[in-house]
Amino acid sequence: MASSQSNKTGREIFEELSQLKQKDFNFSSGRILGSMCTVPHPIAREAYIRFLETNLGDPELCPGTKEVESRFLAFIGRLVHAPRSAAGQIVSGGTEGNITAMWLAKQLSGKREVLLPESAHFSFQKIASLMDMKLVEVPLTKEYTLDINTLKKKISSKTAAVVGLAGSTELGTVDPLPEISDLCADEQVFFHVDAAFGGFVIPFLRQLGYKVPPCDFTLKGVSTISLDSHKMGYAAISLGTLMIRQKQWLEHISVESPYISSEKQAGILGTRSGAPVAAAYAVTQYLGFDGYQNVVKSCMNVTQYTETRIKELGLGLVVEPTMNVLGVRLKKPGAVVKKLAENGWRVNKVERLSAVRMVLMPQITTQMIDEFIPVLKRVCEEVGEV
Ligand SMILES: Cc1ncc(COP(=O)(O)O)c(C=O)c1O
Repeated sequence: MASSQSNKTGREIFEELSQLKQKDFNFSSGRILGSMCTVPHPIAREAYIRFLETNLGDPELCPGTKEVESRFLAFIGRLVHAPRSAAGQIVSGGTEGNITAMWLAKQLSGKREVLLPESAHFSFQKIASLMDMKLVEVPLTKEYTLDINTLKKKISSKTAAVVGLAGSTELGTVDPLPEISDLCADEQVFFHVDAAFGGFVIPFLRQLGYKVPPCDFTLKGVSTISLDSHKMGYAAISLGTLMIRQKQWLEHISVESPYISSEKQAGILGTRSGAPVAAAYAVTQYLGFDGYQNVVKSCMNVTQYTETRIKELGLGLVVEPTMNVLGVRLKKPGAVVKKLAENGWRVNKVERLSAVRMVLMPQITTQMIDEFIPVLKRVCEEVGEV
């Protein structure tokens, strides 16, 4: 095919790329206050680059990378107290984790109905569309967590799965996981815990003495847990894990894979890079459980500081924070978000709750909050919030 455009030199390409990249907000600036992703830990960056050409979709070509994956999954298994019978499935993030879990629930139960809290992530809408599943929303209590009494009434012979949140997208709230687990164990219903955000927070909050329920396999009714390394795991995008209570369940989401090295392939993706896996593994080895506990401790300190500074402006929160996520109640969240963006700061709008969401990720410091608060104050005065 004839090309009307001559090839560019490396220098020209990188000039073009850096010009475009300069348009981006970046995490290290500290001005992204609404995202659940973060600056990857430096060790993740290094590991990522070294594994660029690996393909875990064809594992016999890269047995070393496959071993990295196994060691990473062993770490995650310890984090969520996985039983010996369990298996881990690498996914690209929380969306794929939820899709894979619901695929499994549908295959195992032969049913289509999913009971989920009103606060569930929008990825479940994709699940409904992709897999023809029916979503039945369970209302929330005044603490913005799933109402267990309504769940009890809604669970039925049509239920394929119940979903509970360990760190909701909008507020970081945690559903009553032990009670849901007991109910699902009694009713023999598949229970998926969406811990995309909270998976790397809750175990450490508990070690620090915070009163939050566990989100692990010590809850006997839990079938699967999805947790993302590219959120509070401090790793590079894109990586999550779906932990599955019974390894043999993987058979139900596997197909024969005739032309590649393994006989069967489980899950959604085919070709998939080992780079984010190596990056996530490197961070787990560098930080260990103690390191993650320190990260969570420092995020909670910054969260408390931010909460105090926000309340000093005369603004209120939707609910007291469970983890490093704040929902700030506003009359005109859309206008505030827009004006903050014009001033170089990003928070997320949550129209449904008439709020904005702030996520105090590891790169956010109290100094950055001190820079942000006067801007928020000015913007709120301009739009008539305070
Ligand atoms: C609770 C929860 N589940 C799932 C997801 C989807 O994760 P991802 O965007 O990594 O696919 C998110 C994203 O924020 C989330 O907060």
